[in-house]
Amino acid sequence: MRILMVSSEMTPFAKVGGLADVVAALSYELARKGHEVKVVLPLYGSISPERHWKALPDPLLVPFGTGPQFGRVWETTGGLPNLHFYFLEHNHYFQRAGVYGDAGEGYPDNDERFLFLSKGGLALCHYWQWYPEVINVHDWPTAVIPVLLNTVEKQGPLGRAASVLTIHNMEHQGYFPASFMDLAGLPREEFRGDSLESYGQVNLLKGGLYHATKLTTVSPQYSREILSPPESCGLETVLRFRSADLIGVLNGVDTETWNPATDPLLPAKYDADNLQGKKVCKRVLQEEIGLEVRPEVPVFGVVSRFASQKGLDLLVNILPWVLREMDVQFALLGSGDPRLEAGFREVARLFPGKVGLGVGYNNQLAHRIEAGSDFFVMPSRFEPCGLNQMYSMLYGSLPLVRDTGGLHDTVEQYREGAGEADIGTGFVFQEASENALYYTIGWACATWYDRPDDIQKLIRRAMTRDFSWGPSVERYEQIYQWAQAARGG
Ligand code: ADP
Ligand code: GLC
Repeated sequence: MRILMVSSEMTPFAKVGGLADVVAALSYELARKGHEVKVVLPLYGSISPERHWKALPDPLLVPFGTGPQFGRVWETTGGLPNLHFYFLEHNHYFQRAGVYGDAGEGYPDNDERFLFLSKGGLALCHYWQWYPEVINVHDWPTAVIPVLLNTVEKQGPLGRAASVLTIHNMEHQGYFPASFMDLAGLPREEFRGDSLESYGQVNLLKGGLYHATKLTTVSPQYSREILSPPESCGLETVLRFRSADLIGVLNGVDTETWNPATDPLLPAKYDADNLQGKKVCKRVLQEEIGLEVRPEVPVFGVVSRFASQKGLDLLVNILPWVLREMDVQFALLGSGDPRLEAGFREVARLFPGKVGLGVGYNNQLAHRIEAGSDFFVMPSRFEPCGLNQMYSMLYGSLPLVRDTGGLHDTVEQYREGAGEADIGTGFVFQEASENALYYTIGWACATWYDRPDDIQKLIRRAMTRDFSWGPSVERYEQIYQWAQAARGG
């Protein structure tokens, strides 16, 4: 199939969260199966075209309703002959420090910026006269594409392209003033409640949900949860209306990047049969992040965006209590909400040697925390899929998670004293409350000290789970075929 991906993020070029990892891995896996895959991304200020990248000879004309915009297009291959990446250069829109915004605030012209990306992706198809069977878009930044395919592109050669909207997160929907309709050159009749309109504004995700040929979420459990509040984030009506076309496909893990036996970012390598290297990783992490070097104490790791989704406010509030009562350590890495950053800084100051904190984005430290910690904490209020709990299991760090979304689909509850096949892979709790998190940390801590044999069995079970992309890529292929058939292709 000819497949076009249009995305606001892709590893390693621009990453805010797991979406970037998923777009990269999925594109690569589809290309490996022989499909022709083109990925269109913005050329953000943080990306410099490399010497071997080619610029298209002509400027790309991107038709806005208010007049044409022009951009330059850079091309590079993704390591396979049938995988290509295209970066849209537009200095006014993309020469900025952030992807979506600076210091927690979204850029005020994000509607224009991501309209340029979305329309730019379609303009490229016209420029090449290359018409994909399927266009896979991701979250609100490119959710207008299905709307465009059903309206302004309908009578043209792109009118037969099926669209698949992958929902990575319902929380961000892309709310903009109604003037977006004119900017995008969309017919006024699309400004209605069963299309783009919402409370007098434009809601891009909502428009995409109405118009995409098929919808996917990044885990099966999340596809069920979003049919009702609060996970629906106000869009339950459209999601129920489209539920026959809504399919949950679990994200996979890029096991070339996330494998403790080969990971070049680790000070020592290890696997499920020989955990010696993990002990080295733990010592180096303790030294590096400012923890007392004590092999016998369990280290709890966190690598996360600091956002209310992740439930880390629960953790920061109970940490002093946990640290006074249990002999445990915490290795934390993240950035985002300034109040949470300040809260964790304060706890680290109060408990030197017991809490190590990295603030900011640090890929190497992220790998080293997965490897060097014994447990991994994800008390998410909601979690469409979550990649870190899978990384942590593969690295033998047992996840403590709330029973939601992709965490529900990937972590098996610990059963005390069971045999290795049934022992589970982590510690699961129900309520998004400080108490539930506190007692689950206590349960993990007690297991560490009192039932070391169970810990060993849990680690083996977790490390040998299969989180590879194989079955999920097949599912995407099937969904693309259904989408194409539904489109009459
Ligand atoms: P989300 O996309 O909601 O943030 P995921 O678990 O799907 O959650 O993906 C998070 C990804 O971002 C993981 O690859 C994780 O390692 C990475 N990550 C998050 N915060 C940081 C950070 N501060 N430094 C490095 N990597 C981070
Ligand atoms: C979003 C979700 C996360 C998911 C990721 C990749 O950022 O918050 O749960 O793993 O997308 O699909």
